[in-house]
Amino acid sequence: MQQHRPLPDVTVLSDHAEVPGLGFLPVNTFVVHAAEPVVVDTGLSTPGKDFVAELASVIDPADVRWIWITHPDRDHTGGLWSLLEAAPQAKLVTTFLGVGIMSCEWEVPMHRVHLLNPGQRLDVGDRQLVALRPPLFDSPSTTGFYDDRSGALFSSDCFGGPMPSPEVAESGDARAAGDTLRDTQLLWASVDSPWVHHVDEAAYRATVDPLRALDPSAILSTHLPPAVGMNGQLLDTAAAAPSVPPFVGPDQQALEALLATFEPA
Ligand SMILES: [Fe+2]
Ligand SMILES: [Fe+2]
Repeated sequence: MQQHRPLPDVTVLSDHAEVPGLGFLPVNTFVVHAAEPVVVDTGLSTPGKDFVAELASVIDPADVRWIWITHPDRDHTGGLWSLLEAAPQAKLVTTFLGVGIMSCEWEVPMHRVHLLNPGQRLDVGDRQLVALRPPLFDSPSTTGFYDDRSGALFSSDCFGGPMPSPEVAESGDARAAGDTLRDTQLLWASVDSPWVHHVDEAAYRATVDPLRALDPSAILSTHLPPAVGMNGQLLDTAAAAPSVPPFVGPDQQALEALLATFEPA
């Protein structure tokens, strides 16, 4: 896991998950060094991960005041339970549906929850975090936000893409993906948000346009290395998502063909 500081008051802990056949998906956690520190998403819980120990190299976990889970998919909640224990003052920011989904897996401590809907704001002492639903998402609970002090947009799954290598996935700069960036983002858009192929294109693009007006200082996706000064490129790519061929995953025949390549001669 690598650490980077894309903005003076934002640290990213960069991890990745290998997606066979597609590449290496960045899995980021962000720390917003606000007056009341915020952790955005909590990484993977695959064997060998110790989220709280990794986080401790950036901030004393006991100082964390807010844990913003952009949606409760498992690549966002890996360290959530251990962090709630290590950060007794912290509240878990999610939605009503987010609590409902997490409640299928564990008893969510309701006195630790802070419900926030798109359009609402969270005051973290020296700034307001404005909750929003990004254009592309794969959960009814997805809530990103705009940090009105750093100017960063935290976009959850939106703008993500599997990278060509673990090094690029953890590079700390989306430019490291080079010419592959647009194609991999469009692929991920279709994988993660297949509904985008069935919506009115103009209505969809109307959800991208407000981000142009926002003109964030950085686009910080959970599944992309930090993107600073790349708004035009990334928003044009997101706007094109409905027009690419829908992703179809490998079927059983393809799986068997792949497995056959591993069999000894
Ligand atoms: Fe997701
Ligand atoms: Fe995700």
